[in-house]
Amino acid sequence: MFFTKIKLRNFRNYKDQTVYFNQKVNIITGDNAQGKTNLLESLYIMSLGKSFRTARDADMIGFEEGFCSAKTTFVKEGKESNIEIILSREGKSIIIDGIKAKKSSELLDNVYIVAFTPEDMKIVKDEPERRRRFIDRELCQLKPVYYGNLARYKKVLLQRNALLKKCISNDELMDVWEDKLAEYGSRIIEERNHYIERIKKESSDIHKEITGEKEELDLFYEASIPYHKDRKEIQRVFADRMKEERKRDFFKGSTGSGPHKDDIRINVDGVDIRNFGSQGQQRTAALSLKLAGINIIKEEKNEFPVLLLDDVLSELDEKRQEYLINKLSNVQLFITTAEIKEPLFKTLSEKKTFTVEKGSANSFGDLIKE
Ligand SMILES: Nc1ncnc2c1ncn2[C@@H]1O[C@H](COP(=O)(O)OP(=O)(O)OP(=O)(O)O)[C@@H](O)[C@H]1O
Ligand SMILES: [Mg+2]
Repeated sequence: MFFTKIKLRNFRNYKDQTVYFNQKVNIITGDNAQGKTNLLESLYIMSLGKSFRTARDADMIGFEEGFCSAKTTFVKEGKESNIEIILSREGKSIIIDGIKAKKSSELLDNVYIVAFTPEDMKIVKDEPERRRRFIDRELCQLKPVYYGNLARYKKVLLQRNALLKKCISNDELMDVWEDKLAEYGSRIIEERNHYIERIKKESSDIHKEITGEKEELDLFYEASIPYHKDRKEIQRVFADRMKEERKRDFFKGSTGSGPHKDDIRINVDGVDIRNFGSQGQQRTAALSLKLAGINIIKEEKNEFPVLLLDDVLSELDEKRQEYLINKLSNVQLFITTAEIKEPLFKTLSEKKTFTVEKGSANSFGDLIKE
């Protein structure tokens, strides 16, 4: 799939802006703080309805404005469609092909996007939360049901934690929350396990290719409730665990076990690179994971996702930059960069270059001179 245009109103520092995109490569350049990442963010929200850099939707509304909107046109399976997202201080409206969505989840399965930002470079070395978020975002795009289960799990987790913090024992209510957590949680664990098995193979192949067969990447699901092929068994073990740990959880005021504590171990040649990897190894592994995510979306949806590369080229060496740009000839790319990498972009035949200046993206045609 690919985007053909976006129309922004009051979106961050864009007042009123329409941008037309190239089907293949879009290079977005400009000085710092002009609006390059903002433009990528406005595309990204079309996939899950959320930003990749803030949990607060209202942050995307222009300062001193009451609302903002982003309307995009895209082509999928040869068919043109559009999505408009309107954010106000009160909430969010989603309009798909002119019809207002009743639930946010209707947005899913329209647009597939993989974003790669400097923050994602830290997938390997950061806290487990970042690795969970990576899998969750991938799975939400692949499976709308996962999105629902995750949202319900998070909501009930807050309810159980609130009860724990109140320090009043209400076993009946606690039983209710725990039953629900065990059910949604077991579904999450099941899907995460499948996804990790899949991305393990895919990312290991890519990693070999990038490193010239020098490194072996391997992933393991570190589930806080052990995986079992019978989901009901995971549910039972998780429910029992919460009961066992109730006292401890009361003391701590939070739930100590469950998918919100999961992690993925990332090994290179048998060494856990979360803690012991070199920075280069950690970055290359992050790249392999992201690229594997693209392939999985393609296999599952029969459609390539769009790839947003926010300021990451400068963090990769020349070999990896070339690999990234040349390997993805079927994927629509959006690349932000403060400086134009002449030799790298020169080889691309189909591209459009934009210069962003204080919230207006003007196409200057091909800025890169032969
Ligand atoms: N809600 C908002 N309303 C208006 N302006 C905003 C809003 N949020 C951010 N901005 C402005 O957007 C600008 C930052 O935009 P952006 O992050 O896209 O920059 P950038 O071009 O990617 O810069 P860099 O090269 O440093 O990454 C800042 O000037 C900031 O003040
Ligand atoms: Mg930026």
